[in-house]
Amino acid sequence: MSGFVVDNPAARPSVVPRHLAVIMDGNGRWAQRQHRPRSIGHRAGARAVNLCVDYCLDHGIEALTLFAFSSENWQRPADEVGALMQLFMRALDREVDELHRRGVRLRFVGERSAFAKPLRQRMDRAETTTAGNTRLQLNIAANYGGRWDITQASRKLAEDVSAGRITADTIDEATLASRLSLADLPPPDLFIRTGGDQRISNFLLWQLAYCELWFTDTLWPDLSRETLNGAMHDFASRERRFGKTSEQLVSANSATSGKIA
Ligand code: IPE
Ligand code: IPE
Ligand code: MG
Repeated sequence: MSGFVVDNPAARPSVVPRHLAVIMDGNGRWAQRQHRPRSIGHRAGARAVNLCVDYCLDHGIEALTLFAFSSENWQRPADEVGALMQLFMRALDREVDELHRRGVRLRFVGERSAFAKPLRQRMDRAETTTAGNTRLQLNIAANYGGRWDITQASRKLAEDVSAGRITADTIDEATLASRLSLADLPPPDLFIRTGGDQRISNFLLWQLAYCELWFTDTLWPDLSRETLNGAMHDFASRERRFGKTSEQLVSANSATSGKIA
């Protein structure tokens, strides 16, 4: 988890995202290129997770959401799914104490009931152990799908209406958003996908509405600080307009900077 050389602070980007969302893709191809089983790629991918967490801690990123297993990934061959479940169990046994020591709060998002009891118990325990930590919020999306998330939020709203807690005419974007996973966090402002494919693959569909998207051909197990620096520098150079014009942003900034505190 530690031992990485701290990179040159002068080369650091001036604006870092508050919430980074990552599709960790390319484990299988990484292994296949070496004529090794895909499970070896997943194991190597776990090391890249540590690097990414270290990077977020070093750069003051508040929240990191990692896509570990999608609701569609159950369709993979049974031996690959089994190897992934074993890997999740071992990673939790190995890493939770150290994450806790470093002030990381761990949470899992996705439909948990599909996982075997020993894994669910580890997930629950990891969340309880780290619940009071505030340095980095680490969300692991496991058996997660963006469509599932919007569906479960809609179901909760329907239950609230039928129980008389709210009326249908009060439902707006904010009420739906409050029932989604990660509702208590700012939405991701930077999305990174490794592995070369440029798609969302049913990750955070609602929450990514205004996120900056960044893609790299780097395969997840080959992730390096340089790759992440590249994403951060690109992010820092983007103009986030949220529907406004460039001119409006410039005049709002100069009005703010001209204010005497
Ligand atoms: C991502 O890597 C990990 C999971 C989906 C669990 P892949 O296993 O999708 O790797 P590629 O895309 O086949 O190379
Ligand atoms: C997305 O990767 C899910 C995870 C990284 C966990 P996939 O490799 O499953 O995505 P597709 O199938 O290529 O879109
Ligand atoms: Mg893939």
